[in-house]
Amino acid sequence: MISLAVNETIARAVEVLRENDHGDYTIPTKGLYPFQWNWDSCLTALGLAHYDEARAWTEIETLFAHQWPDGMVPHIVFHVLNDSYFPGPEVWRTNRPTATSGITQPAVAGFAVRRLFDRAKDKKLAAERARALLPKIDAWHRWFYENRDPRGEGLVAIIHPWESGRDNSIDWDDAFERVPTEGVEPYTRRDTLHANPAHRPTKAQYDRYLWLLQHFRALGWDNAKLHDASPFQIVDPGFNAILIRSTADLADLAETLGEMEIADANRSRAKKGLSAMERLWSDAHGQYLCLDRAMGKLIDSASVGGILPVFSAIPKPRIAAIAATIERIAGKARYIVPSHDLDDPRFDAKRYWRGPVWLVVNYMIADGLAASGHTQVAHRITRSSVDLIAESGFAEYYDPLSGEPLGGGRFTWTAAMVIEFLKSER
Ligand code: DGY
Repeated sequence: MISLAVNETIARAVEVLRENDHGDYTIPTKGLYPFQWNWDSCLTALGLAHYDEARAWTEIETLFAHQWPDGMVPHIVFHVLNDSYFPGPEVWRTNRPTATSGITQPAVAGFAVRRLFDRAKDKKLAAERARALLPKIDAWHRWFYENRDPRGEGLVAIIHPWESGRDNSIDWDDAFERVPTEGVEPYTRRDTLHANPAHRPTKAQYDRYLWLLQHFRALGWDNAKLHDASPFQIVDPGFNAILIRSTADLADLAETLGEMEIADANRSRAKKGLSAMERLWSDAHGQYLCLDRAMGKLIDSASVGGILPVFSAIPKPRIAAIAATIERIAGKARYIVPSHDLDDPRFDAKRYWRGPVWLVVNYMIADGLAASGHTQVAHRITRSSVDLIAESGFAEYYDPLSGEPLGGGRFTWTAAMVIEFLKSER
């Protein structure tokens, strides 16, 4: 009986992936996000691989076909014309052969490619495809440390909230006060046509997203200049942990494929990043915090960004402390892991990254906890994720108190994660 229900859920998830499949890339969801998004695609590939390995490799290859000459992999590739999304190519004006945005996103590709390779049934195909992607992913990692860690501190900064993927996190509120809004060109949002405005970022936040975009555009999207020129420079522990995990995974994969130079470079990036991460630890919160690089101080905001580092090889006592923090949170939320601590008065159960649960984040946290022996907490996170699907379908994100589906519907990476959770539970 149980396995029948599981099979049915997997079949429904595959249906969502197929619906959003555009041949060689997958859109996150119709209407709200009609192009290819960077970290969505890399995580989606993991779900695709369960029924079509070749197609999974293609998903990531299509993204890297639009890598910039300097090594950056943009956060959106605008493969087609579609005016259901704002800001489109006419706003970014990045001057690329295929239009792309001008900023990046969490570097999950290294992790995803290693996982595809390790699990591949077709080893020959996997070795060929992984070998071709290796130098590209390595170039992206090099780009990060050269351009977003210009003083060689070991951790990279994001210069726009959209880079973190956690667009309107409470973590950015104070730094956002320093981002002006004068001179923002008039605009009409489209996201609020597809999703409930009460679940989306506010106009005050959008004004600042656009100010930053215009500011970078005026600097010709020259990555050598953007970091220092940005009033918003945040070292996000979750973003760094994903990059560190990807550098470590890429190093292992490169070693397996005999690419020792790539292996060594990535191993030393991971090592430096892990020791620098200590600077972000908060005993008071039992998790990591963001660092406002422009101000040189930690941001007192306990978000899931500071829990995500369990995805990388942080010290065991830190993992144990975070596992305990998640258990504390689980005492208050019906579904875990919320994107912000419920004790914070700024917590908002429904608004995008200010409280809701996201299955991709759950996947990475559960993966790290399980790998370090915290199987019970990991299992609890997996259960919460599967319960959310059963009760509320393949939503973009969920209310951690009620389980209500929020944001976009029929969401690709949610479906991909469900396949991952259910297949690995067996
Ligand atoms: C959006 O437009 O909401 C996206 O998250 C930006 O990547």
